[in-house]
Amino acid sequence: MLAGKKILIGITGSIAAYKIILLTRLLVKANAEVKIVMTASAQQFVSPLVLSTLSKSEVLIDLSNNNNWANHVALGRWADIMLITPLSCNTLAKMANGICDNLLMAVYLSATCHVAVAPAMDEDMWHHPSTKRNIETIKSFGNKIINVEKGELASGLFGDGRMAEPEAIFTYVIENFFRAKTLNNKTVVITAGPTREAIDPVRYITNHSTGKMGIALAESLYMHGADVHLICGPVNIQPKYKGINVTNIESAKQMFEATEKHFANADILIMSAAVADYAATVIADKKIKKKEDEWALALTKTTDILAALGKQKTKQFIVGFALETNNVKENAMQKLKNKNADCIVLNSLTDENAGFGYDTNKITILGKDGEERNFELKSKNQVAEDIAQYIIEKNV
Ligand code: CTP
Repeated sequence: MLAGKKILIGITGSIAAYKIILLTRLLVKANAEVKIVMTASAQQFVSPLVLSTLSKSEVLIDLSNNNNWANHVALGRWADIMLITPLSCNTLAKMANGICDNLLMAVYLSATCHVAVAPAMDEDMWHHPSTKRNIETIKSFGNKIINVEKGELASGLFGDGRMAEPEAIFTYVIENFFRAKTLNNKTVVITAGPTREAIDPVRYITNHSTGKMGIALAESLYMHGADVHLICGPVNIQPKYKGINVTNIESAKQMFEATEKHFANADILIMSAAVADYAATVIADKKIKKKEDEWALALTKTTDILAALGKQKTKQFIVGFALETNNVKENAMQKLKNKNADCIVLNSLTDENAGFGYDTNKITILGKDGEERNFELKSKNQVAEDIAQYIIEKNV
């Protein structure tokens, strides 16, 4: 994901410095090249030996080392981004005032790349007017701030000031600095998850969809540079990137309204939601009491969103999904035609480890141009990437 990207980490003196071990690991695992500079006080919180082993590069602390001059200008120019994390109150103040009394500050001041900082301090320090002023000052220099989190602090107090977790910093870096531009200026509408059709105030009809596939698609297309609107039924997960616009809905009717609203301006529609085909004809306003041994609930067909939007199609590339248990290909081809889609992603429930709830999926893409593309069982993230590549190939 970060292959060939050069990331320079600057570590300052804060208890949160130990977490940079995990951040380094995440970056290296994503194939980034990592170099680390740290302040002298940061060494008290995390071992340079561990960091140099993980980053496969010598950790630099002083302006000179064994009579060698550490070339701070070259380091600042080498990096695609510099991440100062954790950022202590002290280094923040130096950054705001251009004080150059250590290697890390010399690198920062000569860096020509983007700089992001992840502050870490106690709540009162974080809320101090001088900290607020310094944060505003370094923001005005163009530095990006990775928000602190609320939680348990080293002082034992609970409040604002905790450094963002390594996973959150990793996600922030990817989202803010390394989004591709393949789908720049393209708007994508994606539906995900199940819908929930109320019967009365306490009961509803739904299905087993978890939203994993749709959310993986939203993340993948967003990372290709698209503007993404995700229309999501009730699920327990959410997209990891903050820039994805999410509309949470419950019923098929709400999903139709929200999807239709964004459709006219969309370039791509992906209907990966498992929309209920039927909803209660009448939703009781009070809890239905049990009476007879047998009872039938009147259901009415919901709008077929894909088919309805297929009719409204102007420029949009439309991707439908089909989940089949029998006559798999014939049924999927029928849906492709009837709903005016450009392709159908077919997943069969008969494939082991594929479908609802699993982290893996096995798909076939059937195109309206007659092409059939079969894929192996893969993680839903990789499947999302395959679908994104298909869309890019056919649509851009
Ligand atoms: N779909 C939709 N609106 C509905 C039902 C389905 O937009 N009310 C979409 C799904 O999001 C999917 C495609 O239609 O992209 C196919 O869904 P699927 O449940 O496989 O098929 P159905 O059309 O519902 O037909 P059947 O249940 O008979 O297989």
